[in-house]
Amino acid sequence: MLGNRLRKRHDQLRKWAARAGVEAFRLYERDIPEFPLVVDWYAGDVVAWLQPRTRDDTSEKAAEHRARCVQEIREGLELEKGRLFLKTRRRQRHRREGAEDEGSGQYERTGEANAVRVIGEQGLKFEVNLSDYLDTGLFLDHRVTRDLVRQRAQGKRVLNLFAYTGSFTCYALAGGAVATTTVDLSNTYQAWTERNIRLNGFEPSRDHRLIAADCVEWIARGPRKREQYDIVVCDPPTFSNSKRMAADSFSIDRDWPQLLANLVPWLSEDATVWFSTNSRGLEFDAARLPAGYAARDMTERTRALDFTEAEGHRAWLVARQATFDSWKKPREPTA
Ligand SMILES: C[S@@+](CC[C@H](N)C(=O)[O-])C[C@H]1O[C@@H](n2cnc3c(N)ncnc32)[C@H](O)[C@@H]1O
Repeated sequence: MLGNRLRKRHDQLRKWAARAGVEAFRLYERDIPEFPLVVDWYAGDVVAWLQPRTRDDTSEKAAEHRARCVQEIREGLELEKGRLFLKTRRRQRHRREGAEDEGSGQYERTGEANAVRVIGEQGLKFEVNLSDYLDTGLFLDHRVTRDLVRQRAQGKRVLNLFAYTGSFTCYALAGGAVATTTVDLSNTYQAWTERNIRLNGFEPSRDHRLIAADCVEWIARGPRKREQYDIVVCDPPTFSNSKRMAADSFSIDRDWPQLLANLVPWLSEDATVWFSTNSRGLEFDAARLPAGYAARDMTERTRALDFTEAEGHRAWLVARQATFDSWKKPREPTA
């Protein structure tokens, strides 16, 4: 059942992927109730995230189900030995202060197998690690958003917050951004970002800075003199209570209005903010945006072909109302 579904989906997507220059894509996400897992294709390797099933109430049953998943994935995709990376993603529990979550788990290293690969995506290259972290280093659901940023980056100053491995920065650089600032709390991801930037023929410099810092505190501190940005990518974790943070915790559902309000001094007149989240609990309300700002829901527009509605992120483009209005005005014919 699962094997057939994977084979069919891979056959459906591989031609599109080849045309689009996409080597990593989503094959399966919990479509069959017996198989509540997620399966991604990485240029011949497969990463699968198993979600524990309540019915497997003994370790024997859990092991049996795991073995069945491995067999179905291998046979369905005719995978050679050693090309399947199995991970366990625990069910998202209701978030509360101090709960085990992203701040203390999702982004930590979990192994040393070091299955590092370089993946091609829409003309760019990214390093992924298929074995040693819960995630691989590249969030596939933001592939379209990354390209939209590239298309708009020519001559722009770009700020990439909660940047992870810097994939948005690489797209901004490829799009001709004149300045980029990439901020993430983790030194591991900042080093990974530097490798990704170099993989694409760029390098950090005075105009292309990598900053390891707590974004919440860094933004609240306000910009240096004349430091402003034209494009901001703001893709925070759902929850973070890392010890390296100034505040006890950060919860996107609770803190997004303040985060966007603190961003205003960093924004140039016609700046646009790509604000996104994977949290299903965030209640986005334009009335809670900073005064004079408005938002366009970009969730549909940024959905990647291999992701269905229920999967992936929600996204908004936030800018001054006047900026959106200026986009409607027909351009004056030049003399
Ligand atoms: C959802 S990921 C961002 C994904 C990224 N936008 C991308 O598309 O690749 C969240 C990132 O936030 C970082 N992070 C968590 N808490 C942070 C904080 N307080 N300040 C800065 N970065 C933080 C994590 O290290 C992780 O890299």
